[in-house]
Amino acid sequence: MVSLSPIEQRYYDLHPGSAERHDNARGLFPNGVTHDARKLNPFQLYFTHAEGSAKYDVDGNKILDYFPGHGALILGHSHPDIVKAVQDQMAMGTHYSGSTDLEIQWGNWVRELIPSAEKVRFHSSGTEADMMAIRMARAYTNKPKVIKFDDHFHGWSDYLSAGGDGLGGIPQETLNTMIVLPPNDIETFEQTLKDNDDIAAVILEPTGAHMGAIPILPSFLEQLREVTTRYGVVLIFDEVVTGFRVSKGGAQEYFGITPDMTTMAKILGGGLPGGAVAGKSDIINMIEERPGDADYNRNRRIAHNGTFNANPLSAAAGIKALELVATTPINDTADARALQLKHGLNDLLGRMEIPGCATGITSLMFLQLGVDHECDNEYCVLTPEQRAQANNGERNLQLNLALMNEGVASGTRFILTAAHSEEDIDFTIDAFEKALGQVRNQGLL
Ligand SMILES: Cc1ncc(COP(=O)(O)O)c(C=O)c1O
Repeated sequence: MVSLSPIEQRYYDLHPGSAERHDNARGLFPNGVTHDARKLNPFQLYFTHAEGSAKYDVDGNKILDYFPGHGALILGHSHPDIVKAVQDQMAMGTHYSGSTDLEIQWGNWVRELIPSAEKVRFHSSGTEADMMAIRMARAYTNKPKVIKFDDHFHGWSDYLSAGGDGLGGIPQETLNTMIVLPPNDIETFEQTLKDNDDIAAVILEPTGAHMGAIPILPSFLEQLREVTTRYGVVLIFDEVVTGFRVSKGGAQEYFGITPDMTTMAKILGGGLPGGAVAGKSDIINMIEERPGDADYNRNRRIAHNGTFNANPLSAAAGIKALELVATTPINDTADARALQLKHGLNDLLGRMEIPGCATGITSLMFLQLGVDHECDNEYCVLTPEQRAQANNGERNLQLNLALMNEGVASGTRFILTAAHSEEDIDFTIDAFEKALGQVRNQGLL
């Protein structure tokens, strides 16, 4: 029998229904979960419903949600306008295996909001959008290799998994077409382009790895834009998280740097599945046939199907979400709550004399705990040793469980929504004070 920490014991006591479900689910799903990131020791929670900034578990606990829809829900849970749009569409049919006005409206919102979007193609997820983006860049340039950066996440496709964990089943030949480089190092990047004339594209999370936890410096984005233009390499911003969040026009509008291609998902679908790739017409048009050119159509053109591309339900939710982003101060509200939380947590760390910082830009915020360092609380760049300290698995797990016991699902990463209220933030800071105290009592801080 493994002995439980006081925090774990309380977690079991408060969540018996989830513990029981997890035990049953272990025989059904690998690790008992349906997404690697939902795995939690000793067990993850099971939820029944959600509204605004909170979700409710099977044991009746209300939990403030700082990972709403994995970042998809900038409007918060169950926004009434989204619920109505989806219910109305549901009654009119969910799939016509044909084109709709909805897809045109949805595509127009993307083009209106995202500076780089000349043309658009819809998918069902961010993984698909990223897969398609690098395929388009390869087809367009007729070159095989793609550069990505350490720790940057672009879904679970064979190519874009390069450099990460869990590479089982991916042919080495596939991985050999990917080059993984350190971020924020323009010399190494340019040298790689000099040494390899077969590079089609570079893809990155424009605010940095893990949704911005390991930041990309704005100056690096500018340098990347300049160097890729000079070498004719396609620059792809993966805006699956940052699109419609970091600003209405995503990271590209926030930083004033326009990539050649952009991938989107999450907020794009208004809480339902959806993805898109957008960018320069010439590149997106790699899907179009050239009449009478059989060789091109067979060997250069990209064939693209997908049962749920631009499906009416996701389109209805997505249109409403993008309309609200475009016409109301959704982003400003989420940003203001993030700032309140960031100030509150930095103040708390100071009061409790715990080294570390709350950092991040706009509505994406991170806690780098246990690291004595200087930073501007926006672009907190740590050395690998400092990052290892901040990522202390056992301490962060105990903190995560203690926070959940206090009614806050965040751990050390926060994705804010316009539905988080000022009172929610005050509640969260109080919860952190209790949780950090409990972690300290267990000798971990
Ligand atoms: C930056 C980024 N790109 C791509 C993806 C993959 O998107 P999806 O989970 O919709 O396949 C994610 C998912 O979290 C992501 O954070």
